[in-house]
Amino acid sequence: MTAMAVTGIGQLTTHDPALGTLLDAALVLDGGRVAWVGAASGAPAADRVLDVDGGAVVPGFVDPHAHLVFAGDRSAEFAARMAGEPYTGGGIRTTVAATRAAGDGLLRVTVRRLVDEALRQGTTTIEIKSGYGLTVEDEERSLRVAREFTDETTFLGAHVVPAGADADDYTALVCGPMLAAAAPHARWVDVFCERGAFSGDQSEAVLRAGIAAGLGARIHANQLGPGPGVRLAVELGAASADHCTHLSDADVDALSSSDTVATLLPGAEFATRSPYPDARALLDAGATVALATDCNPGSSYTSSMPFCVALAVREMRMTPAEALWSATAGGAKALRRDDVGHLGVGARADLVVLDAPSAVYLAYRPGVPLVRAVVRNGELAWQ
Ligand code: NIG
Ligand code: FE
Repeated sequence: MTAMAVTGIGQLTTHDPALGTLLDAALVLDGGRVAWVGAASGAPAADRVLDVDGGAVVPGFVDPHAHLVFAGDRSAEFAARMAGEPYTGGGIRTTVAATRAAGDGLLRVTVRRLVDEALRQGTTTIEIKSGYGLTVEDEERSLRVAREFTDETTFLGAHVVPAGADADDYTALVCGPMLAAAAPHARWVDVFCERGAFSGDQSEAVLRAGIAAGLGARIHANQLGPGPGVRLAVELGAASADHCTHLSDADVDALSSSDTVATLLPGAEFATRSPYPDARALLDAGATVALATDCNPGSSYTSSMPFCVALAVREMRMTPAEALWSATAGGAKALRRDDVGHLGVGARADLVVLDAPSAVYLAYRPGVPLVRAVVRNGELAWQ
């Protein structure tokens, strides 16, 4: 691996407090890390040069919430929703049936396709959940496949209670044999805490069992209605409470005085035609906010972090700078990572070159393919 200089940067967003946003900047990448950042005029020599010709450079996007291990198609469910049907999460069982019937090869091809699709839109770190298997064997193999693509794997055996099962019996299965099979392949444990999925007590049991098995906690909380999920996340020290669409003032206070990140998933509100979470209230209260795609075949079939940034700015009253921070540094915090989401010296050399003079264009030109090149681990991963 030889050192590479990235030159000709019109605007560089570092998210490093000491460096901020630089104009006419350069970076030197070495050994998969950022080795030098500063004014182009002072850049040291390197073996190779990537001249980005005035384009803006931002940290690689960090997507901390995606459900990529699945089979089957739910476009008809989406069409029905756009004709007035509500989203209830019930369609999860449709995907479970198709996923169980699929071979490992098909699941692998799907995950690879979506990870590549995300990479071409600037995502260099992605979390991938299980949750469409719901048997010991199918959850274990979902995580094994996910692990081939990312270290950020999440056991979501408690996604929904399988058809015909008793909720408490199934929760015991998740906390016992299923967790034992899943834990070697997972970094995180997650649960869908929602009316119609898992109660507060059941969710607490799942997260405590996961924590006891050495996993970090995260939770699907307060998506379809108010509930105990956010409170539980903060009590258990979860890295992230995801969705946060229906929050009480107490939930906002709890998040803002904790290390639990509020991960917002505007693609889900977009595709279920639901009101967006109140990002402004969370930010104004001092909570840490991340953005994620929630990429899944039911509630949010997008892999695009730029799309989520545009939605966050237009629909959730975030500024372009806040939305970019939440899509990079915020996602890193939601995964308890300090090596990604910023471009300070020592950070992983993951960055996105935009076909635009500034990062504001991500929201200013929604739907336009602005990602010109992606560098991952110091190497050009897509151009
Ligand atoms: O995060 N809410 C639960 N899980 C997913 C949806 C999964 C599906 O509909 O297949 C979500 O939105
Ligand atoms: Fe989700």
